[in-house]
Amino acid sequence: MIMRTVANKVLIMIVCVCNNVSDKAICQAVEQSGVRTFIQLQRVTTAATCCGKCSSCAKQVLHTAVERYEEQMMAELEGVAFA
Ligand code: FES
Repeated sequence: MIMRTVANKVLIMIVCVCNNVSDKAICQAVEQSGVRTFIQLQRVTTAATCCGKCSSCAKQVLHTAVERYEEQMMAELEGVAFA
């Protein structure tokens, strides 16, 4: 994992160094490509398809991204249902 920072703020985290896959790319895969599983993440982003050392970090970022996305969708649905 590599973090690029400016003024001590993390801008982007490279989760998979072999395939240059960032945390933002994983979030985009969740939001735009419907990725929900690790296998899907590997197919869509190629993360963790080379040496595999990033697998646990990629799974953790995927899990967090899916949770955030689902919470966001639930909040939007609740807003629609009670608006
Ligand atoms: S660091 Fe991700 S496959 Fe090697």
